[in-house]
Amino acid sequence: MTSSLTVVGLGYVGLPMALEACRVGMRVSGLDSDPSVASGLTAGLSHVDDIDSTDIAEMLTLGFNATTDPGCIGDSDVIIICVPTPLDKDRNPDLAAVKEAAITVAEHLQPGSLIVLESTTYPGTTEDMVQPLVEEKSGLTAGVDFNLVYSPERIDPGNPEWGLCNTPKIVGGLTSACTERGVQFYSQFVDTVVPTVGLREAEFAKLLENTYRHVNIALINEMAVFCHEIGIDLWASIDAAATKPFGFEAFRPGPGVGGHCIPIDPNYLSWVAKRIGYRLRFVELAQEVSERMPAYVARRAQDALNRSMKPMNGSRIVIAGVTYKANVSDQRESPAKPVTAHLKAMGANVSFIDSHVDSFTVAGEEIPRIVDIGDVAKAADVLIILQAHNEFLDSRELGHVDCILDTSGKFFGDNVDRL
Ligand SMILES: NC(=O)c1ccc[n+]([C@@H]2O[C@H](COP(=O)([O-])OP(=O)(O)OC[C@H]3O[C@@H](n4cnc5c(N)ncnc54)[C@H](O)[C@@H]3O)[C@@H](O)[C@H]2O)c1
Repeated sequence: MTSSLTVVGLGYVGLPMALEACRVGMRVSGLDSDPSVASGLTAGLSHVDDIDSTDIAEMLTLGFNATTDPGCIGDSDVIIICVPTPLDKDRNPDLAAVKEAAITVAEHLQPGSLIVLESTTYPGTTEDMVQPLVEEKSGLTAGVDFNLVYSPERIDPGNPEWGLCNTPKIVGGLTSACTERGVQFYSQFVDTVVPTVGLREAEFAKLLENTYRHVNIALINEMAVFCHEIGIDLWASIDAAATKPFGFEAFRPGPGVGGHCIPIDPNYLSWVAKRIGYRLRFVELAQEVSERMPAYVARRAQDALNRSMKPMNGSRIVIAGVTYKANVSDQRESPAKPVTAHLKAMGANVSFIDSHVDSFTVAGEEIPRIVDIGDVAKAADVLIILQAHNEFLDSRELGHVDCILDTSGKFFGDNVDRL
């Protein structure tokens, strides 16, 4: 069984999906509302970490068609929606892209198709919002004329071990026939497909995974602040605790949470809870603790300067790694921004080094860039490692920096102060 597929939204989630579908012989179209995305891919250029120009060339050879023309939906028996689900200005769920995509799909939908929503969202979105929109605009009935499924994406950009094909995929359908169809579809390129009893359980599973991570990161961040106060090396304690073969999963502290999932998804959960007058206090507390970390990192830099009798005001601070995690180029919700804002508010002159990005802007101001790692030692009173990209781990030059504040736990030496 192969399928003809349209992937709606060709970002970090949609593009790897399209690649794997091409590889198993599906006829794949990629629909993106941004013309530069479609034209870039057609020209062989990738805009996504983990997918390089060789992959795009392979896709194009296998017939991949990147387009802004929704006509491809009518030629596809499976349509996967992978559009962004950000927060609005009040930090509530913004489902505008999902609504727009659902309407576009409905306008071109053929009977017998399978629609999958992969965007992360709150439980109930597929049934309460996508289904009525598609039914109204297409005149077709979900579960009868077309199948409807929710399948959360678990992609972890930059992870060399776990990718789309070997990470189990959750699938929940409107009806058992919808679930079965979804399982059959994904089984063509994913090793393990896990059906749930319904749509809401699949939607909730994704939020549960990310909220679990969010709460545990906040817990370990709180422990980092506490352990520093009482003179305990938390990193060593984590390594020791992690030797327990059951009942403990190691999370490590950092400068704050970033990316498109951890800082955002728990808000989708809190929003649903608030609607029924319920407060998810663990989630709120985790957000509060994580939001305090950038200011804490700035304060620790000030402490480091203080030990050398230097004031923060007028100091030269270099931050290394401005993306939200190591070895990717994605700056979304990166803690580097609030860290920089705090340092600047305290009077520091901040510059950055990161070969994964060309520019780094905070509150509209371009932060000066250091290109050569060999220049860091003379440019920095303090170097703050925010994300331990491989280029920093492999560098001998950083050994010459007077003072390193390391938030990654991966640097050692007399000149290193770890979070
Ligand atoms: N990035 C991750 O690591 C990750 C992991 C798991 C889940 N998710 C979830 O997957 C979803 C997509 O995230 P992403 O990181 O791929 O986003 P992205 O911003 O990288 O890509 C989304 C793409 O969708 C396009 N788009 C927006 N509206 C559209 C529309 N109406 N029609 C067609 N195209 C449209 C955009 O132009 C963009 O190219 C989100 O809900 C996100 O929470 C992301």
